[in-house]
Amino acid sequence: MQQLKEVLFMSMLLVRGGRPLAGEIEVYGAKNAVLPILAASILTTERVILHHCPKLLDVENMVAILRTLGAHVQVEGSQITIDPQYAHSHEMPEELSKVMRSSIFMLGALISRFKQAWVTHPGGCEIGLRPIDLHLKGLRELNVFVREEHGAIHCQGDDVRGASITLDYPSVGATENIMMAAVTAKGTTVIHNAAREPEVADLAGFINTMGGKIRGAGTDCIRIEGVENLHGTEYTIMPDRIVAGTYMAAAAITGGDVTIRNIIPAHQHAVAAKLTEAGCIIDWKQDTVRVRAPKRLREMNKIDTLPYPGFPTDMQAQMMAVASVASGTCIITENVFENRFKHAGELARMGANITIKDRIAVVRGVEQLHGARVEAKDLRGGAALVLAGLAAKDETMVEGLCYIERGYQDLAAELAVLGACIEKGD
Ligand code: EPZ
Repeated sequence: MQQLKEVLFMSMLLVRGGRPLAGEIEVYGAKNAVLPILAASILTTERVILHHCPKLLDVENMVAILRTLGAHVQVEGSQITIDPQYAHSHEMPEELSKVMRSSIFMLGALISRFKQAWVTHPGGCEIGLRPIDLHLKGLRELNVFVREEHGAIHCQGDDVRGASITLDYPSVGATENIMMAAVTAKGTTVIHNAAREPEVADLAGFINTMGGKIRGAGTDCIRIEGVENLHGTEYTIMPDRIVAGTYMAAAAITGGDVTIRNIIPAHQHAVAAKLTEAGCIIDWKQDTVRVRAPKRLREMNKIDTLPYPGFPTDMQAQMMAVASVASGTCIITENVFENRFKHAGELARMGANITIKDRIAVVRGVEQLHGARVEAKDLRGGAALVLAGLAAKDETMVEGLCYIERGYQDLAAELAVLGACIEKGD
């Protein structure tokens, strides 16, 4: 039994609620920017130095993938140096691509570098089926030969040609993969209905410092002029807007007063608008935002997740926790992923009043949540349970720390800086 307890204890966070968060915290580099940028680092044979990289499980896995392909990679704190000249393989390691579905971003980069790619179909994950049909359709339009069989994808791109591509849906990953495949194609590619997420713009910014010619990233129309080759570079990753949003939600749910540094205000507006509706006072300075929350949050009447600049799906779970203790009723519609309400059942175990029907959650705010033993079932759902624990009476045990560590460097230590009483099984 002891053995079992220790193992269980190893993978959980213990949160003692009831304390308003206060103080200042700085945001680290964005997971969803550094992952495609690490993939893009093999577009050149010259050295790439990345600053402000977050220390995350997903980043470790992407580094492992680059090393398996032959690239030399050095990680020193938040700096990652890649020597891509030694990369020699176009085949993604199956065991790694299974662990992390964002390895699919390697497709476009491998095609550009080696004219071919072999990856395992990443499959679904906790929040949905995560199809990649738009990725493959876009690559075929670039004259890449794509064969899918036995759960693997083989791409042959001996003569990649620019094309005008219209995405059926503004998929972030599809936009990024097409961009990376098009950057050394013959001719010009235009992506219509492209994803406008800031992480797409960060990837384009990185590639342009390597000599790429990408215009319009961050808008729904991106123009990529093919170039012969790309040179080495040094680049700083943008701040993580979802980590920043999570800290803002933590201030709100605890009635706290928190200042968050190293943010890009435009990236936080959708979340800030909802917190303002809930009665929070939000003050902005250049790269800083301060959130002061009332003792009891007012009603937020609805949250609809949408592609950027709409409300981010990656903040839906955290805001469901906030709505659980706000006044009134909040109708949350998850328009982006088909299975992203798994945290609702766990919040209900803490006393939240939530009804789910398909992609709609009706959240009726309660006065007080109570501590319970709950389980994270995906990355942002795990963060939501920690936030709920901060507001709950008594103690909450959040199991499934491995999910949370995919997207947060050390959520327990980060929130403890703001006065949270939280510790992890070590
Ligand atoms: C990126 O995933 C992010 N991941 C996700 O963050 C984020 O939630 C998502 O964009 C939306 O913003 C990374 O950047 C590593 P999509 P991605 O392609 O690229 C459908 C987190 O918590 N679709 O924009 O996979 C898909 O099923 C993670 O940090 C197709 O139908 O997102 C989904 O319903 C979670 N066919 C919708 O589009 C395709 O070929 C959005 O997916 C591709 C996508």
